[in-house]
Amino acid sequence: MSRIAYVNGQYLPHRDASVHIEDRGYQFADGVYEVVTIVGRKMIDEEGHLDRLWRSLSELRMAPPMKRQPLKMVMREVIRQNGINNGIIYLQVTRGVAPRDHPFPKGVPSSLVMTAKRLSMEKLAAKAEAGVSVVTVPDIRWARRDIKSVSLLPNILAKQEAKDKGAYEAFQVDEDGMVTEGSSTNAWIVNTEGKIITRDISHSILAGITRASLLREMKAAGIEMEIRSFSVEELRNAREVFLTSSTSYVLPVTKVDDKVIGNGRPGSISLKLRKLYQDFMIAK
Ligand code: PDD
Repeated sequence: MSRIAYVNGQYLPHRDASVHIEDRGYQFADGVYEVVTIVGRKMIDEEGHLDRLWRSLSELRMAPPMKRQPLKMVMREVIRQNGINNGIIYLQVTRGVAPRDHPFPKGVPSSLVMTAKRLSMEKLAAKAEAGVSVVTVPDIRWARRDIKSVSLLPNILAKQEAKDKGAYEAFQVDEDGMVTEGSSTNAWIVNTEGKIITRDISHSILAGITRASLLREMKAAGIEMEIRSFSVEELRNAREVFLTSSTSYVLPVTKVDDKVIGNGRPGSISLKLRKLYQDFMIAK
């Protein structure tokens, strides 16, 4: 099945899909995005992702490209036309096409682009069984990381540093030595006392939808957690480390920089939470 992309009202062959060179997303990174997981042909946490998209748009005073209901229909159509069973759908909204000038253009409609791709559940499962490594890097991002902006330069530099060092992800660390989040994931630890900890929601991190769903499922299962910042030292000395995102689900981390976590195998709590999250996805 050939890939199809949606661009401003049209379903186009992926290879021919393009936007204008003066799209503000291209020139200013003046846009926001969402990545929604598809499992068994169904979107996971569609409403949560759309709520966050609407919030990002509103924080940037950007007009939604269409109402929520038709947007959902386009998303379903993109998934259908691409024949995705398991994978992701990517949505991007920018402030539209206008001659390059910093202030918001007047009367210009937002641009909407969507793509979809398959993800290999087997590859992800193999990663989860083996565990992944992370490196720590300084968080050099702006002060509004709660907005899911397409302006991702610090994130890609962080991810590249991880890749260069043979790691899967980079955990970013703020000026106080506290872990904020991964370059495209939220960070969690199980500390030496066995407490499950993840950072609180603020302008410092993205409010991960996977994070929120996992917290909800944990609460329903009576699993205790602590919502607070943790330091790099706590991270390095943690009993277990894991990360969450729409493309990684719950993924155990077995190494932080040069420090092996636990016995170097995915921890039992991380695996239990991974299962809890997967059960939630399948039950949806
Ligand atoms: N990234 N933190 C950052 C900086 C992210 O970019 C993401 C998601 C997350 C996890 O959020 P969620 O659970 O809603 O996926 C946390 C997506 C997957 C990406 O950029 O590809």
